[in-house]
Formats: sequence, structure tokens, C-alpha cells
Amino acid sequence: MRIDILTLFPAMFSGVFGESIIKRALAKKHVEIYIHNIRDYALNKHKQVDDYAFGGGAGMVMMIEPVANCIRKLKGERKYDEVIFMTPDGEVFDQMKANYFSTLSNLIVLCGHYKGIDERIRSLFITREISIGDYVLSGGEIPAMAFCDAVIRLIPGVLNDETSALSDSFQNGLLSAPVYTRPSDFEGHKVPAVLLSGHDKEIEKWRSEQSLLRTEQRRPDLLK
Ligand code: ADE
Repeated sequence: MRIDILTLFPAMFSGVFGESIIKRALAKKHVEIYIHNIRDYALNKHKQVDDYAFGGGAGMVMMIEPVANCIRKLKGERKYDEVIFMTPDGEVFDQMKANYFSTLSNLIVLCGHYKGIDERIRSLFITREISIGDYVLSGGEIPAMAFCDAVIRLIPGVLNDETSALSDSFQNGLLSAPVYTRPSDFEGHKVPAVLLSGHDKEIEKWRSEQSLLRTEQRRPDLLK
């Protein structure tokens, strides 16, 4: 998979993509990520990327040309499966969508900033608009990182134990069962005995019961 991220704040990505699972996925070439600074595609010598909104109102608007120049250049080099815009008024991201995006080859992810982006960017270039939840962040960068992390960990070979994504919360529509490690007794708080029993069948049964119980208690909406 190849992901091209368009942003005004490229430095925000280095920490998140330089650690843990994404770092390994990049090293193992399961994914290539290219960060493009939208300012590099600005037209005038001031490298302007935002302007006042027509009709007035508070806040600056991201200009069409720098984003259009960048997207057109990329599209001239290869075919993209989706051109995604991170925005709080997009469709809400979930595990099923993460599964879908993880099967694709080439993605562009555009991070918005300021009051918004010129609507014509959305109508001309964007194929999917994605929100990571009903709250507003200062820009699309953190949502883009969350999106990329959720998608990349699903690419086959990225996780060490291939089954570990399968047992994630939501992957089967349910929350995960609780997990424990040593010590088996912490100040009198004991690990459920079944997990120490060595009976694989019993353990599996306990886990699926707990998974269902947790979902009923915390996220009954998932069971509907
Ligand atoms: N940009 C700002 N807030 C956002 C959100 N909740 N999801 C996606 N992009 C955003």
C-alpha cells in the first residue's frame, strides 16, 4: 500500500509514524507513506495557502490551487483508489471501513485546516470524506494519523501474530474480553481461575462470554 498525505504541518507526522507498528510496517515495506507539504504547491511567492471566505465570516479557507496542484501531480504518476478528506462532517470511521481501506493499493489523504477548504476541492477531487468521531480537532492531521494506524495494522504481515488483529475489539462486532498477565495474584486481586487452568476450550468459552458481556454492558448499540 502507498499513502500520500497532504498537509500544512508535515512535522506532526514524524513521531507517530516513526514508532511502534507503523515504523515496522514501513521498514518491512508493507506500506510507503509520503508526506507532502501543501505550501510547496502554492502559486505565489508568498507561498499563500489560505484566504478570506467569499461572503465574509470568521476564519480563513484553504485555497483550491495548492491542493489541486498536488493532487493532480500525484494522479499523473499513478492511479489512486480513493482520495480521502479528513473532516468532522464526513462519514464516521469504523472498523469495517478500516478493513475496506486496508485492501486498497494507493490512497491520498488530505488534511484540512483553518475554517475549512474551498468546497470545489471536495466536489472535484475527493472520493471519500471521513470523520473520526463527533468532535472537532484543530486540523485533519491527528485524524489522518488515527486513520492510517487503523488501516495499516490490518495489512497482512504487519502484525507479528496474524491472529491478533482478528481478536481486536470490533473486528467481530464485539468488544474484546479482558486480558491478564503475571502476577496471578496482585495484593489479593486474582486472575480468573479458568485462565490458569490450561483448558483451551474452557478458556475460549470464557473469553467469548466475557466479550459478549462487555459489549452488552458498555456498547449495547453494537448488538442491534
Ligand atoms: N478534522 C477536525 N476534526 C475532525 C474529525 N473529528 N474527524 C476528521 N477530521 C477532522
